[in-house]
Amino acid sequence: DVKACIFDLDGVIVDTAKYHYLAWKRLAQELGITFTEEDNEELKGVSRMDSLDIILKKGKKEISQEKKEELAARKNEWYLEFVNEMKPGDELPGARQFLDTLKQNDIKIGLGSSSKNAKLCLNLLNMTDYFDVIVDGTMITKAKPDPQIFIMGAEKLDVKVENSIVFEDALAGIEAAQNGRFKVVGIGDPDILGKADIVRSSLADITLDELKSLNNPK
Ligand code: G6P
Ligand code: MG
Repeated sequence: DVKACIFDLDGVIVDTAKYHYLAWKRLAQELGITFTEEDNEELKGVSRMDSLDIILKKGKKEISQEKKEELAARKNEWYLEFVNEMKPGDELPGARQFLDTLKQNDIKIGLGSSSKNAKLCLNLLNMTDYFDVIVDGTMITKAKPDPQIFIMGAEKLDVKVENSIVFEDALAGIEAAQNGRFKVVGIGDPDILGKADIVRSSLADITLDELKSLNNPK
């Protein structure tokens, strides 16, 4: 049975993945590094510092730790300028309705986001109360594709892995779920997320029955 759903935040519940991209692109531009939407796929689900390292590596730049902290902080300020404009209704299509359906069916809801801004985003959207458990970037020691974040989520929700389903828009996140032996729904482009058990373009396109059959194949 499906007893819990654990959601990534950025790109699954809300389109903040776009804001992360725009802020990184601005930083890359300042550093004279080309950074495309395709390059950005590699950053999805990856921590702030690791994302910066990926960009610097792409630009073949080596800089001090101090300078790195400064650049990461600057990116975060730009990111927050977008985020702070968010309000209820700005969540992705179907997200709120899907969480309502889960609540009505007594399925527990968890968050597994690498972002240190996850709670802020949920508060701005007025969606915090949906979540029985929140695991965010301030709580993990191992980044996706390590399964720690989702395993921690399932433990805190007091459900078994086999009774939980993960929702992810990032390759690193899909791998994290699969490394933890979770079933995983990819949210996004099937050409990119083909590894997931099923892929849908948004939470508006998935029914509870589909989740149940995913969890319990006939
Ligand atoms: C999520 C996003 C990443 C982001 C990471 C850290 O995993 O998909 O793009 O880099 O969180 O977010 P933060 O808000 O802490 O910089
Ligand atoms: Mg994501």
